[in-house]
Amino acid sequence: MSATAFLPTKGGLDALRAAAADCQGCDLYRDATQTVFGEGRASARVVMLGEQPGDREDLAGEPFVGPAGRLLDRVLAEAGIDRSTVYLTNAVKHFSFRRAERGVRRIHQRPKSGQIAACRPWLAQELSTVGPDLVVCLGATAAQAVAGSRFRLTDHRGELVPRPDSVADDLPGDWSFLATVHPSAVLRAPDRNRAYQDLLADLRPVAEFLAG
Ligand code: URA
Repeated sequence: MSATAFLPTKGGLDALRAAAADCQGCDLYRDATQTVFGEGRASARVVMLGEQPGDREDLAGEPFVGPAGRLLDRVLAEAGIDRSTVYLTNAVKHFSFRRAERGVRRIHQRPKSGQIAACRPWLAQELSTVGPDLVVCLGATAAQAVAGSRFRLTDHRGELVPRPDSVADDLPGDWSFLATVHPSAVLRAPDRNRAYQDLLADLRPVAEFLAG
């Protein structure tokens, strides 16, 4: 299982996006509506990485347009981060879900490690094309996809550090790294306001990095 056979031989983000639309590198393409590729300028200084598209993103074909995306927009604006300076993408580019036992609701399912690995060539290509100065991971799945399975978000959230040694060589670039919680964790938190303020505090160094 790998996306490698679907990568284009040349071209920038548009060529990657077009090729990813036909990706069958893992089984998720079968039930998902479409590939949800990353979005933003090739000149973006920051790449932000989520886990996988949700229900709304799967239907819209764009990352972070559902409830978690709205919260992300709000926190980025409040932190002073211009979304146009950010390239937003996901570790997995197809929606992984199961059907509710009754009804038509599609319930998010954490992508499996094999699916994350299969999708990795797209992330590697995005990093190589965008060439960011900073990679920001939203949530443990994204953080571990980049910094390795031993990375513990609870121990290192909000730390802006040089590229960790644990990042595998297939992800190109000499970027700095910061991991924080996923915006959907804020939506689920018992104390939403506190969780929001903590996410905001984690993202402030990103704004300072961009201003510096
Ligand atoms: N959650 C993610 O991780 N990515 C999206 O695009 C939407 C929700």
